[in-house]
Amino acid sequence: MEKVKCGVIGCGWIGELKHISYLVNAEDAQLTAICDIDAAAADKIIKKFNLKDVRVYTDYRELCADPQVDAVHVCTPNGYHYEMTMCAIRHGKHVFCEKPLATRTEDAVRMVEAAKNAGVKLALGHQRRFFSSVQYIREMVDRGDMGEIYYGKALDARRRGVPTWGAYMDKEINGGGILFDGAPHSLDLTMYLMNNFRPVAVQGKVYTKMRGETAGNPWGTWNPDQCDVEDTGFALITMENGATIYLEAAWLINMLGIANSSLICGTKAGADLQGENGVARINTIVNDKMVTFSPEYADMPNVKPYIGEAEAGDVQMKDWIDAIREDREPFVQGRDGIPVVQIIEAIYESSRTGETVHITNHYDA
Ligand SMILES: NC(=O)c1ccc[n+]([C@@H]2O[C@H](COP(=O)([O-])OP(=O)(O)OC[C@H]3O[C@@H](n4cnc5c(N)ncnc54)[C@H](O)[C@@H]3O)[C@@H](O)[C@H]2O)c1
Repeated sequence: MEKVKCGVIGCGWIGELKHISYLVNAEDAQLTAICDIDAAAADKIIKKFNLKDVRVYTDYRELCADPQVDAVHVCTPNGYHYEMTMCAIRHGKHVFCEKPLATRTEDAVRMVEAAKNAGVKLALGHQRRFFSSVQYIREMVDRGDMGEIYYGKALDARRRGVPTWGAYMDKEINGGGILFDGAPHSLDLTMYLMNNFRPVAVQGKVYTKMRGETAGNPWGTWNPDQCDVEDTGFALITMENGATIYLEAAWLINMLGIANSSLICGTKAGADLQGENGVARINTIVNDKMVTFSPEYADMPNVKPYIGEAEAGDVQMKDWIDAIREDREPFVQGRDGIPVVQIIEAIYESSRTGETVHITNHYDA
């Protein structure tokens, strides 16, 4: 089969770091087009990677219509994911959409339905699922070694970690703050580890208490008057099988936090992920004693194959290209993004009304 021809919309942080960086060196794929509304951002990419035969657009609709593009990578701010994905699908293209899938449930559902009806693939940007540690824990869960999983914790609590570039502070464009930034990763990871994507009820609360606390942020300061998103969100999520997930998400909180992590508890064992590579810690009982261990490779990044933060993006990209070539589903599918968007929407609603919000199952539709 010929190389998969890919076009990337959005030449910012993730567009360059994960998508373009992979595609320019890929054996089975070829970067044929890029698009950014900011022509200078696209030009920077052309120069940096010394790209010769790549078409450059400022209008995403033209990239979607380009016959030299088989797969469209949507790497723009959250609020554009829906219209760009739908446009690409209308043109019969496969779509890799960065997380979160959308900022509204109805959009997320339409995207998944449209891809299904058009017979194209829709992948979602949760590369952490490929971590060696995550695969190890999930295999334990699937074998039944952890027993019944009845509690999970989705964590992305950054003491200071406010993204000050792009549209992250603009609710209209990004959908919200930390809940649409870090929370999708940790929710996805937790639900994946629990093998449970079926939330039924959410009680949540969001805060904007720290908006004016601009000091100490590693990504610089900001104008609080130009920020209308939450800095913190908490939620208690009930799953269809009675399990509970607690979500703790913040990009600005006076707490020694844990970025992008997860914890699950089963009747036979528990597990959590530590640090940016998500090193696994398993806790269980052996010979009547409490035992905690980390699978060896998870502590040893030099042991190959090892997949941590540095490797996960490339591994997801390869899976995506292979999925197209082999005509199979990508490992992280668009449909997995629906419950995440539903939970986030429900947290805002619950925070506003003080009530528990019930969730309809669109995941199995
Ligand atoms: N998978 C991950 O770990 C991960 C990490 C960071 C960001 N993301 C996601 O990637 C997306 C982009 O985030 P980012 O940090 O790269 O943002 P960014 O601001 O760095 O880049 C976005 C780019 O999109 C361009 N753009 C905006 N509107 C456009 C339009 N209408 N048409 C064409 N281009 C347009 C901007 O000019 C910018 O260059 C977000 O949805 C974010 O949640 C995922």
